[in-house]
Amino acid sequence: MSFPTRRLRRLRTSSKMRELIQETNLSPRDFICPVFVQEDLKTRTKVDSMSEIERLPLEDINEEVGIISDLGIPAIMLFGIPSYKDEKGSSAFDDKGIVQKAISQIRQNFGDKIVIMADVCLCQFTSTGHCGIVQGNKIDNDESLAVLAKTALSQARAGVDTVSPSAMMDGQVATIRKALDDDGFTDVSIMSHSAKHRSSFYSPFRDAAECAPKFGDRKTYQVPFTNSREAIMEVQTDIDEGVDIVMIKPALSYLDLIAETRRRFDVPVAAYSVSGEYALVKGAASKGWINEKDITEEILYSIKRAGADMIVTYFAKPAAKFLQES
Ligand code: PBG
Repeated sequence: MSFPTRRLRRLRTSSKMRELIQETNLSPRDFICPVFVQEDLKTRTKVDSMSEIERLPLEDINEEVGIISDLGIPAIMLFGIPSYKDEKGSSAFDDKGIVQKAISQIRQNFGDKIVIMADVCLCQFTSTGHCGIVQGNKIDNDESLAVLAKTALSQARAGVDTVSPSAMMDGQVATIRKALDDDGFTDVSIMSHSAKHRSSFYSPFRDAAECAPKFGDRKTYQVPFTNSREAIMEVQTDIDEGVDIVMIKPALSYLDLIAETRRRFDVPVAAYSVSGEYALVKGAASKGWINEKDITEEILYSIKRAGADMIVTYFAKPAAKFLQES
């Protein structure tokens, strides 16, 4: 008898053989591309900590969505940066707000050729920089729910396909679902940031979206990164409340939770590869310490392999390009 008995290398002998046995696939169709739109902005502005990511004026949004769509990416995730902030986050639910304007403009121009998703949160819109309404020195959960529901509704009126609550208030999915249904928006879907962790990986985003908290931190509402059972309960709760797509966020340090969510539940699972994950790669690549394309490919495949059906990623455009070329 020859040794070894099992030779796994046999199926690695040629690139065609390796293609044949490849278990995980990645395509531009897996991506959701974040888009930052800023009110009263004159020209595209680079975000310091996120090299190739820009904030766009409303006038440039259609061109940007055209580029994304031509790359075969099926969806965008809109984030708005308003000119006006107050304690109530009023510009988040203003029918003439920057996000609402962007949604209706994209809808008019692209019809149903792109899935329009929009972030539903208050931190860009509140003077406090918190994701909910602050009363005293606390984030008031139920007060915040009403404002989140108003925001989702006004995005629905503008023509959004999917609202994506990221405030981590208890009951946000149920409240938004009811508000949408009561107004006849039964076809507007909800992709919740179900298990959004209290993470240091968000800091470049806070530069991009001007939404760092003015005092304190987000520990009273985001999930501690030490607790996986608690994260799964967040996912379970969103499913009980009628969510359509659940999300795990960030992605790279949370692959175990993506896999666990995939194993336990049958709803579509999204992963959000966040700004800090992007910045780590870009930073090291700019020094020549790693190969950006190869690392990006490996990271995105690993998120798919863990069980994500779709990935919100700042690499959506470059990755779609290299996937089309390969
Ligand atoms: C706002 C929000 C944040 C992110 C998405 N929506 C920041 C935060 O919670 O502080 C982070 C996304 C990223 O880092 O790419 N609630």
